[in-house]
Amino acid sequence: MTIQYAGIDFGTSNSTLGFIQEGKPVLLPLEGSHTDIPTALFFNFEEQTVSYGRQAKAEYIRGDEGRLMQSLKSVLGSSLVEERTAILGGRVAFKSIIGMFLKHLKQKLDTQSEACVESVVLGRPVRFVDEDDAADKAAQTTLEDMARVQGFKHISFQFEPIAAALSYEQDVTKEELVLVVDIGGGTSDFSVVRVSPEGRSKADRKDDILANTGVHIGGTDFDRVLSMAQVMPAMGYGSMTKDGKRPLPSKYYFELATWHRINYLYDPKILSELVQVRRDAMLPDAVEMLSSVIRERQGHALATYVEQAKMHLSAKETAGIQLHLEEETLKVQASVFAFNEAIFRQLEKLKQTINDALTQAGVKAEEIDTIFLTGGSTRVPALQLAVREIFPNQPFVAGDTFGSVGLGLALDASRKFQ
Ligand SMILES: Nc1ncnc2c1ncn2[C@@H]1O[C@H](COP(=O)(O)OP(=O)(O)OP(=O)(O)O)[C@@H](O)[C@H]1O
Ligand SMILES: [Mg+2]
Repeated sequence: MTIQYAGIDFGTSNSTLGFIQEGKPVLLPLEGSHTDIPTALFFNFEEQTVSYGRQAKAEYIRGDEGRLMQSLKSVLGSSLVEERTAILGGRVAFKSIIGMFLKHLKQKLDTQSEACVESVVLGRPVRFVDEDDAADKAAQTTLEDMARVQGFKHISFQFEPIAAALSYEQDVTKEELVLVVDIGGGTSDFSVVRVSPEGRSKADRKDDILANTGVHIGGTDFDRVLSMAQVMPAMGYGSMTKDGKRPLPSKYYFELATWHRINYLYDPKILSELVQVRRDAMLPDAVEMLSSVIRERQGHALATYVEQAKMHLSAKETAGIQLHLEEETLKVQASVFAFNEAIFRQLEKLKQTINDALTQAGVKAEEIDTIFLTGGSTRVPALQLAVREIFPNQPFVAGDTFGSVGLGLALDASRKFQ
């Protein structure tokens, strides 16, 4: 089969690729039969190979020597994107690693198509970067450049929540005003869109898109705040120096709790700084635990366990986190109560961004007919409750949590390139 165009949802945590088959949007299997692939690469130093997705995470978790790269989208729009990092015998810019990931997706697409696919709609969050239009624009340009390098010639962008709305529209039976809530790993996006059965065949949707707002808050922020609230204190975060005069410096804890900053801690000077921190600390054993995590390079493993615990907290009241170190084990019991408290500020900001969307659209909350939820982080119960406060009566429709955006981008591509 020849595929003329596709849509790529390059997500902070997971990516999908949609195309049109027999007039309907479908997702391409990207890893075995899975249509979503974790946006992760593993540079395996032992085998001198690069792996992607679940395989990348598995090699990393089983302890292969190498480097796992994740949350690459968060780097777009920051100065880090041009920065080079050491992998497989060379130094490669973060943006080239993004390019490698896009290449991996494109190879799957071209194989399926048995030809080089040149036209693509790339999804983008409403804001890559908050309150900095130049950096936000630069983020999109970098992504576009990387797609071009991989052989895409016709590249267009669509807001991720609009794509989700297009996918939801495939199933509606009457005209509705829908608020799309797309909360993924890196960003939260909201769109107010008029959808209808007739809308499916309209080429120009400008008049139906009433608002788009977004903020750089997502599941990786929830992971970080959960870690800061429940895990880092076990390693001394928030405790005092033994003279009781000041708290321990927080920077080590922030870096350890933030996926794409963990590598900074593996600079040898950090461990020597921590010798002094430990000497001054009221709780030296806790600081020793921090040093062990860094010395044994367990930062990413810990972050993975924190994320898993967060996901468990969507269904249970508590979740255990255990990290085995050479001489001891870090054990924490995370609770949904503490998690909800920790994400309170983020939820307030999300509610404000939803209200901004309503203002931009010029509609009142009660005029919205349906709330369409997509993105992994919409599974967080406290988040759903926060949205409920604004929309007490409307139905919540859960879309394909990980696929709605990719399917909608395929529909958008068919509009733009057909
Ligand atoms: N059951 C769950 N409870 C809470 N969070 C979850 C659950 N399942 C997945 N997540 C979170 O959802 C996020 C991934 O969602 P998704 O794949 O929609 O994001 P993304 O599209 O990659 O990111 P973005 O759209 O922000 O670029 C991760 O942070 C993950 O931890
Ligand atoms: Mg997404």
